[in-house]
Amino acid sequence: MKTWTINLAGFGTVGAGLWNHLQSHTDLLRQRVQAEFKIQKIAVRDIAKARGVPSEMLTTDLLSLAKDPRAEILVELIGGIEPAYTLVKTALQNGKHVVTANKALLAAHGQELLALAAKQNRHLLFEASVAGAIPIIKTLREGLAANKILSIHGIINGTCNYILSRMEAERLDYATVLAEAKRLGYAEADEALDVDGHDTAHKAIILAALVYGLWVDENQIYIEGIRKIDRLDQEFAARLGYTLKLIAIIQSADGKEVDIRVHPTLLPQRHVLASVHGVFNAVAIRGDAIGDALFYGRGAGALPTTSAVAADLIEIARNVLPTSSLPIITADNAPRLKPIAEVLSRYYLRLNVVDRPGVLAQIATILSKHTIGISSVIQPEGHPGDVVPLILMVHDARESAFQEARKEIEALPFISPPAIVIRVEDFV
Ligand code: NAP
Ligand code: HSE
Repeated sequence: MKTWTINLAGFGTVGAGLWNHLQSHTDLLRQRVQAEFKIQKIAVRDIAKARGVPSEMLTTDLLSLAKDPRAEILVELIGGIEPAYTLVKTALQNGKHVVTANKALLAAHGQELLALAAKQNRHLLFEASVAGAIPIIKTLREGLAANKILSIHGIINGTCNYILSRMEAERLDYATVLAEAKRLGYAEADEALDVDGHDTAHKAIILAALVYGLWVDENQIYIEGIRKIDRLDQEFAARLGYTLKLIAIIQSADGKEVDIRVHPTLLPQRHVLASVHGVFNAVAIRGDAIGDALFYGRGAGALPTTSAVAADLIEIARNVLPTSSLPIITADNAPRLKPIAEVLSRYYLRLNVVDRPGVLAQIATILSKHTIGISSVIQPEGHPGDVVPLILMVHDARESAFQEARKEIEALPFISPPAIVIRVEDFV
């Protein structure tokens, strides 16, 4: 089995996340790509900080990672433009594949670095640079490649969306929520990049380049952040039926003139983007063939971002040594199909019952015998002796137990079958 040797620059929120992910997902990665990924060197600024990795792996000499003949892939997770630019360029010049999450770097030098990667016949992949866990780069490059993209409207900064959502929902002040976003690892090392709209703009520049082939300089586009947003405006907007979000807009009717901008925007509350809260991002894409499509997921944080970085490693492994994109299954690890009888679910149960004393007690006894708890009951008032609906919501139950209970309940003399059963998904 092939082992890919990786040098990792940066061991902060995302770098440490990648280290942990590669340790905990070794078997899954073997299954997916018949390969292992081994980090051999890690560059950090402060070598004395405790990090839970063997100290001989650490270095402060960034460029040694890029020149190291043993490494095949350089993962850049230090952020910022320099020394990241020199590092990535040197790595490509030295024949490494590069994976980065650095949108500031790509917005400033993406065109040149991608051209260098192509010239060197190496990958420069950057799925984590836009919209965190949402595979929006692969979606645009692959799944939607046959569409003319008419517009992209994105909530693509987790920190800003987290701040705006909590200010609106909990009436918290800006500074309190920003501190929380930093604690959770959502914000950039320089949080001004988030709240002043620059991080969103960097991502918009990358998306515009992918879709329209137009690389613009940050100074050429309109960028307004959320620093001056007042809770009062959120309240007035809500009364008018709107929600305030920081939106990136990238659109072109003909591909000849492209509108790229970032600013706080009022969205009608009925629009799907208005219900994207907290650290979640969403990208609404209109294509000439697909019409409207929405992509939604966590936009920042160690695990979601790591998922995107690791996906790029997998892409390199698959492209360089083509393997099946299906997992490798052996007799030992073959999964089984879970029978419906074993599934746990909550249920809505509507019964037609004769309205008389003791009915609910008998139904509850049957459910309890099958260890099924009732979470709520509705019974509209009726006249004694009339048939009335009785609606029960029950807690998680095994399908087989629930169906047994249902049969017993349907057989009760005061029930008029059939019972109506609908499974409940709480998305917890
Ligand atoms: P971070 O927590 O600030 O970590 C940065 C790491 O880089 C630290 O380990 C730091 O070393 C190291 N570093 C910085 N400058 C260095 C230098 N000159 N030489 C050697 N090491 C250096 O940053 P992060 O949140 O992980 O973000 C990393 C990248 O991912 C950024 O480009 C960011 O925009 C991007 N990103 C982040 C997220 C997120 O949710 N956090 C999501 C998507 C993309 P020390 O530990 O010694 O200080
Ligand atoms: N600071 C960025 C954000 C990280 O909050 O969206 C993810 O790119």
